[in-house]
Amino acid sequence: MNGPGLRVPRSRGEEIRRRLVAGSLLEPAAKILKEGGHLVLPLRSGRLPPRDWGEVVEREFVPVVKPGPTDYRELLDWPAQEKAELPRSFDVVGEIVLVRLPRSLEGRREEIGAALLSFVPGARLVGADRGVHGPERRREVERIAGSGPWRTRHRENGLERDVDVERAYFSPRLAREHERVAADVRQGDRVYDLCCGVGPFAVTIARDGRASSVRAVDANPAAVELLRSTLRRYPFGSSVEVVEARLESFLPGAEPRERVVLNLPHEGIKYLPSVARLVAPRGRLYYYEVAARDALERRSEVVVDALGPRGIWTVVDRHLVHPYSPTSDLVAFVVERSER
Ligand SMILES: C[S@@+](CC[C@H](N)C(=O)[O-])C[C@H]1O[C@@H](n2cnc3c(N)ncnc32)[C@H](O)[C@@H]1O
Repeated sequence: MNGPGLRVPRSRGEEIRRRLVAGSLLEPAAKILKEGGHLVLPLRSGRLPPRDWGEVVEREFVPVVKPGPTDYRELLDWPAQEKAELPRSFDVVGEIVLVRLPRSLEGRREEIGAALLSFVPGARLVGADRGVHGPERRREVERIAGSGPWRTRHRENGLERDVDVERAYFSPRLAREHERVAADVRQGDRVYDLCCGVGPFAVTIARDGRASSVRAVDANPAAVELLRSTLRRYPFGSSVEVVEARLESFLPGAEPRERVVLNLPHEGIKYLPSVARLVAPRGRLYYYEVAARDALERRSEVVVDALGPRGIWTVVDRHLVHPYSPTSDLVAFVVERSER
């Protein structure tokens, strides 16, 4: 950037710089030049400083590069009080950003969408997330910035999964769970991923290669199609059998297996009596549930009781996955069956 500058001996540099700042004469967008025993202080165009401060010269200055924002909220030029209402966090699924907006900010959703679109590297589309609904747990989303389909590829644990944030459930917040369950599978284990959605558990387990077979079951045809599409891209994909079925029809004819995953956090409990039969002796059930925070201790007993007669089932691990609401959490229960 070309412009006027004030050439001063280095020994007077700091003193003159302060005077220029005080008089609003220093150009903040340009860097100070060093020329041997002199400095050239960039000047704002317009007013010139008094002659005895230094020699006015014309120079090519290097622009000051401002660091990028560290928070999307910095991109919104709103008063602090209004900014305080903005959500701190958002989810990124492939090229899609999902944000939950409080009702009070609905009218300003396009501004928020535009800020997120420019803040998140690689973002193509921003959606207002209105939560998951119905038996298939489909997400209600509204486009607030960007373009293109809701279908994308999400990279997690080194794998790319086909997802469609509108047509089939997927949560990027469960990545650690997918790894955790996969790591617990032993050589030769047979696995069920019940209510598999787009199959993040099944795919991670299959990638590790220890399971002798994986059967993934879901009632949502869109989820099943997305999972099949992911599996076609990987050599291990053929080890996963994808079944489009409701649990009600699948469970009665299914044979026991050593590892069973059930992530149906709001109504999974009603399937536990029939899922219990599917867990082989010494096998494990990975069961996810949204549980009231103040009733967590009692909840392990409820889960064990739902599985069947006392003495057969032991909760070997129970941990928080993430907070779900101000009073509840998504909780993982790992329950092991005895020899019986
Ligand atoms: C919360 S999502 C979990 C998906 C997946 N396991 C995951 O962790 O991303 C629950 C899934 O259960 C499926 N589902 C709900 N009720 C079902 C039923 N009765 N039989 C089979 N699948 C069902 C839905 O279609 C949805 O994909």
